Amino acid sequence: MPLKADTICRDMLVMEVIIRKNGEECGLVAARIVAKCLQEKEKPVLGLATGSTPLQLYGELIELYRTGTISFKECTTFNLDEYVGLDHSHPKSYHRYMADNFFGRVDMCAENINIPDGTAEDLRQTCQEYETKIEQCGGIDLQILGIGSNGHIGFNEPMGSLSSRTWIKILSKNTIKDNGRFFKDAREVPRHVITMGIGTIMEARHCLIMACGWKKSEAVKAMIEGSVTAQWPASALQFHRRTTAVLDEEAASLLSHREHYAWVEENMMPWQTY
Ligand code: GLP
Repeated sequence: MPLKADTICRDMLVMEVIIRKNGEECGLVAARIVAKCLQEKEKPVLGLATGSTPLQLYGELIELYRTGTISFKECTTFNLDEYVGLDHSHPKSYHRYMADNFFGRVDMCAENINIPDGTAEDLRQTCQEYETKIEQCGGIDLQILGIGSNGHIGFNEPMGSLSSRTWIKILSKNTIKDNGRFFKDAREVPRHVITMGIGTIMEARHCLIMACGWKKSEAVKAMIEGSVTAQWPASALQFHRRTTAVLDEEAASLLSHREHYAWVEENMMPWQTY
């Protein structure tokens, strides 16, 4: 099958790397990428992430919706992950995060929203059904991702399979400590989660991974310039055919090929820029 022009240029790099001054500017570029996807597709399917990093992006998307530039009416979404055992209205559940920070503020149709159900009686069945639903919707067009300081994406912790599917996983002590900041105490962080697997994420047609702050710099270096290894799950994205990493200066600070990434961005064809 002949390669599409879009693929040819992007194949110059394992990942397209866009570096911006701060989180706010990262949010602007990321929002343009999402807006482009919404405008190009009749029934776009978005994969969504939680955490503090995509908040700027959601803020920008809400703004674009308010000004009438984009609409989410035809859009279907699949969230990456959810804690097991937290009620959907629990202030720290990802159901609640999404309702407060995004869904409640745009024109998404409730029936098009999908988030893994960590309260389901049969968790294994719910995971399988999630995979089936993604498939039935034609797969994910654009998957938004953050990254943990240990290189996890979704809740795929180090040393998990790089071809895993949506499943129940155990959080690492490192992530429990990191995410403890969102709870009163790290002891309140559930140990179990449901997450799309690395294999599920790898099937998205475009991955958009965002990282901001010094704390992410080691994981970002490993993801983009290190070897592909289960020790840094995000490094699997080096095998993805189209991943865009949007980083702030701090998160990008350990990268060795920054000059090259900037050169490539400068020389993109107008239709390739965001
Ligand atoms: C959680 C989420 C991830 C997210 C990560 C980083 O563990 N499951 O999807 O990428 O946190 O979060 P933050 O952006 O707050 O650093």
